[in-house]
Amino acid sequence: MGDKAILPPRPLGRSRVLIAAAVGVIGVVTAVTVPTTPAGAAASTLGAAAAQSGRYFGAAIAAGRLGDSQYTTIAGREFNMVTAENEMKIDATEPNRGQFNFTNGDRVYNWAVQNGKRVRGHTLAWHSQQPGWMQSLSGSTLRQAMIDHINGVMAHYKGKIYAWDVVNEAYSDSGGGRRDSNLQRTGNDWIEVAFRTARAADPAAKLCYNDYNIDNWTWAKTQGVYNMVRDFKQRGVPIDCVGLQSHFNSGSPYNSNYRTTISSFAALGVDVQITELDIQGASAQTYAAVTNDCLAVARCAGITVWGVRDQDSWRSGDTPLLFSGGNKKPAYDAVLNALNAASPGGPTPTPTPTPTPTPTPTPTPVPDGCAATITTTNSWQGGFQSTVTVQAGNAAISGWTVRWTWPGGQSISSLWNGQQSVSGSSVTVRNATYNGSIAAGGSTTFGFTANGTAATPTATCTSP
Ligand code: XIL
Repeated sequence: MGDKAILPPRPLGRSRVLIAAAVGVIGVVTAVTVPTTPAGAAASTLGAAAAQSGRYFGAAIAAGRLGDSQYTTIAGREFNMVTAENEMKIDATEPNRGQFNFTNGDRVYNWAVQNGKRVRGHTLAWHSQQPGWMQSLSGSTLRQAMIDHINGVMAHYKGKIYAWDVVNEAYSDSGGGRRDSNLQRTGNDWIEVAFRTARAADPAAKLCYNDYNIDNWTWAKTQGVYNMVRDFKQRGVPIDCVGLQSHFNSGSPYNSNYRTTISSFAALGVDVQITELDIQGASAQTYAAVTNDCLAVARCAGITVWGVRDQDSWRSGDTPLLFSGGNKKPAYDAVLNALNAASPGGPTPTPTPTPTPTPTPTPTPVPDGCAATITTTNSWQGGFQSTVTVQAGNAAISGWTVRWTWPGGQSISSLWNGQQSVSGSSVTVRNATYNGSIAAGGSTTFGFTANGTAATPTATCTSP
């Protein structure tokens, strides 16, 4: 009877049976110290401990810190999921309209995959961190630019991302409605258009809606997002997960109804991911509570902290993370112990597509003019999707025309980042207004979906 009173309430695992037996032999119940995590059963890193219940434990990683060995040692050891802190955002990946740049996104992606970690994509449609050209767009032009952006970025990382934050922070801080933004002013359906576009662009990625201050179940903003997700599920708009950023501080503190928030979203038929966790002051008790709330809900798939050490935090003055310099803080031990105490089970882990580092495209040397290469990025029964890379030669070009002939009756159903004209099996694609100029040695891409059997005909490129 005595051991029941002193042991924490968790399933009777093998170690606990042994402890209970030992207690019985010794005949002393009150003096026995029960380790929080039984030796032998405990994992020693956050990622491994989370994996015991089929979950992940991740961190936001900044490309600029990958040269810091203390940082990479901790991050490499502890986490098994990575989010690029800024490098996959709109301003980073499409600095000029139609010209994508994945240099830093790939640095984070490649570091993660080379160290055995999966990657969350963050983020495709957001009012913040938009490049200047996008900030100044509106209406149908902006709507199209959003679609092109989603297609461009998701094509690059196709099949390689565990989950994308498709839309970030679209709800207002008060009242439960949408936030005003240039994207919102393109029409209330912008969020579902973003999700439908994303599903078509990479059917393997989980698609998340991500926001802050949707952690407290009683807040209007939480209810607003909840109603949107319910509506999406009812109408068949593709959505797989809700990201609770969970930046906790005095203005937005952790509340014990967090578990209700997680389970309520999960009950709609979506995964819940804690995507950007940091806690002002890093109370060990609060970190443990957050962890236990996730562990209590089968569809809470994992936790990501928003940085590695306090000095890496976007709110470093709040010392909100799990490491101080190279040292584990008490909050670290609290999280690790909570993860180790979890019963196995939890969400069924998503089969990971064997991740491969993004190959650096090896450009075919082009003496002058331009060259075009068609790549199939996806195919299905009766259709396929392709990306066409247009590369300038030794001189800059200010316009391009790509031509090819379909070998077997294929036809384009939708094309972006170019203007097409079709005559029988001959296809001609000219640059869009915004992507005709390519620097010497530079490149741009356009894409299309087509009906028929996937084909990669030889394309020619001419520039005026
Ligand atoms: C933050 C980064 O941490 C900072 O480095 C950057 O200056 C601003 O953005 N919600 C989000 C994240 O979705 O992308 C934000 O990240 C933090 C709030």
